[in-house]
Amino acid sequence: MRCRSCRRPGVIDVRRHNAAFCGDCFVRHCQEQVRKAISQFDMIAAGDRVLIAVSGGKDSLALWDILLDLDYDVDGLYLGLGIGEYSDESGEYARAFARRRGVALVEIDLPDDLGFDIPTGARVARRAPCSACGLSKRHLFNKAALDGGYAVVATGHNLDDEAAVLFGNTLRWATDYLGRQLPVLPASEGFVRKVKPLVRLGEREMAAYCVLRGIDYIVEECPMAAGNKHLAYKEALNRIEEQSPGAKATFYFGFLERASQFFTPEADADKAALRPCDECGAPTPGKSSNEQTMCAFCKLVQRAAT
Ligand code: AMP
Ligand code: FES
Ligand code: ZN
Repeated sequence: MRCRSCRRPGVIDVRRHNAAFCGDCFVRHCQEQVRKAISQFDMIAAGDRVLIAVSGGKDSLALWDILLDLDYDVDGLYLGLGIGEYSDESGEYARAFARRRGVALVEIDLPDDLGFDIPTGARVARRAPCSACGLSKRHLFNKAALDGGYAVVATGHNLDDEAAVLFGNTLRWATDYLGRQLPVLPASEGFVRKVKPLVRLGEREMAAYCVLRGIDYIVEECPMAAGNKHLAYKEALNRIEEQSPGAKATFYFGFLERASQFFTPEADADKAALRPCDECGAPTPGKSSNEQTMCAFCKLVQRAAT
């Protein structure tokens, strides 16, 4: 097994590309895949200030590292979700990375700043924890970017994540979600641009990148996610990938090239029907004329406070 680029002994093989790499060439391969994704999907323009949402896990810390090395102007955002030790530890990894690279990390702590944690918020709102958590993340990523004057929010979703979400959405024919499952969501009234620059890289590649670059990250998965459907979809796709290397990439990029356009009109129509939340101003599906319009996040905060 020799490196595809320099013929030195390889340290990692990427079956999807039928190639092996030495450490240095692998780091360059990851940078190149991010550079290609950014240019292929017009993710970041010259001069854009980028806010990267970092969880303390491998994907978002690796992406932050790569964006800095590609000379983007990028600060981090960490949300303390109040999920016990898991949150304490993941925050430490995000802070350690920021210190080591001498870059800015914006922090929002749900218990301290908003008065609730995800387990409690989910219980009182009668939502699954991952649903209350996803809703809070989407809202707060966007708000932090607007407040800080950033043009773009980047997240560490990788090819494995996107293929698994696509698999779930397709099994249910969730056409509204399929219309929004894109590597770039353009800015619109009340929303900054959202980008996923790791869509050309898999989970295993990101773990190897962190090891090679000496980036420490939280290895444990969120305890609230255990047994959820997303993990089952990932496992199913891993079995398929094992038999047919490249199947995930073909599934996901085939969707983007040949199918996603059939679903975007529905997503665009949903977006056009949004109205500002009476509490916070964030765009939200509107109610009929004189009823109060409150976004799902403000409802969650209100219920969690009572
Ligand atoms: P997940 O939804 O946990 O798979 O995470 C997907 C992406 O959301 C990560 O790659 C990060 O970019 C971002 N993210 C997840 N958790 C947090 C957090 N606590 N604070 C900031 N960003 C996060
Ligand atoms: Fe959101 Fe686990 S990280 S519920
Ligand atoms: Zn609101």
